[in-house]
Amino acid sequence: MGGTSAERDVSLNSGRGVLAALRARGIDAQAVDGVPALVEAIREGRVDRVFNVLHGSHGGGEDGVLQGLLEALGVPCTGSGVLGSALSMDKIRSKQVWQAIGLPTPGYVRLQPGDDIHDAAKRLGLPVIVKPACEGSSVGITRVLRPADLEDAVALGRRYPGELLMEQLIEGGEFTVGVVGDVALPSIEIRPKKGWYDYEAKYTPGNTEYLCPGLDGEAEQGMRDLALEAFRALDCSGWGRVDFMRDGQGRNWLLEVNTAPGMTATSLVPKAAAAMGVPYEELCWRVLESTLA
Ligand code: DAL
Ligand code: MG
Repeated sequence: MGGTSAERDVSLNSGRGVLAALRARGIDAQAVDGVPALVEAIREGRVDRVFNVLHGSHGGGEDGVLQGLLEALGVPCTGSGVLGSALSMDKIRSKQVWQAIGLPTPGYVRLQPGDDIHDAAKRLGLPVIVKPACEGSSVGITRVLRPADLEDAVALGRRYPGELLMEQLIEGGEFTVGVVGDVALPSIEIRPKKGWYDYEAKYTPGNTEYLCPGLDGEAEQGMRDLALEAFRALDCSGWGRVDFMRDGQGRNWLLEVNTAPGMTATSLVPKAAAAMGVPYEELCWRVLESTLA
C-alpha cells in the first residue's frame, strides 16, 4: 500500500481495509508502504506473499515494475503479471490491443508534444476527454465540452508522467465489472449525483449512486462476457476491474482495466462482491487465495 504515485492516499485507504480484513481472518498480515520498503521486508525474510493494493504507476505497483521484481524474487503477488499490468496501466496500449482484435473502445488520438490539439478535437468531435495514459482514479482527467477549454485540459494532463490521450466522450451510462479468478462479478452502473465520476465523486461517501447489477438478462451477460474477453486480451489474471461506457443504443465501450482495483469503503469491486453475497473479508481472502494457483 501507499507508495509515491498520485493515488497514494487511495492506496493507503485500500490497504487499511484489506489489512483489517486479512487480520480478521487470522492472517499475520503486515502493512508495507511502497516498493523500497517491500524490498527491505523481503530481504529480511518477512514476506511470504504480497496482497498488492499499491495503485498507479511511477511509484505505484500497478504497472508491471513491481510484478517483475516479485517474479524475479519468487514472491507470489495478487493480480496480473508483468505483461497484464503494464498493458492495463497504459490506456493507449490497452486500446491498441483491443482494436487489433475488434473489441469496442472509444476513438482516440495519442497526443504528442507539438500536435495541433484543436485539429485532434475536430477529428474526434467534441465532447472529448483528455487523460494521462498511465494514471488512475481520474487523476489529471478533464472532460472538454468547448474548444476554449482544450488548452487547460492538455496542460493539466501533461503535469503527470507519461503520454496523454484525447478520447471521444461516449454519452450514456458509466459501468464497471469486477473480475475475481475466472468469474465476472455483477456489473455496477455508476451514477454521480452531480457532474461526472471524478476523484471527488469516487471517494466522497454519498456523492455517487451505484446500481448493482446494473443491467438484466442478456445485456448483463453481454457486458460480463466482454469484461472477461477484454481482461484476458490484456493477459490479465487473478483479479481486476474493467471499466465501460454504455451508449444510448446499448453498445458497450471499453475504457480500461484496473489490475489493482480500489478496496476503499466507496470502491466498486467490494460493492459488486457484496451484491453476490460475498462480504469484504471473504473477497480479500479469495483474492489472496488466487496467489496459490
Ligand atoms: N485506480 C483506482 C484505485 C481504481 O481503479 O479503483
Ligand atoms: Mg484506472
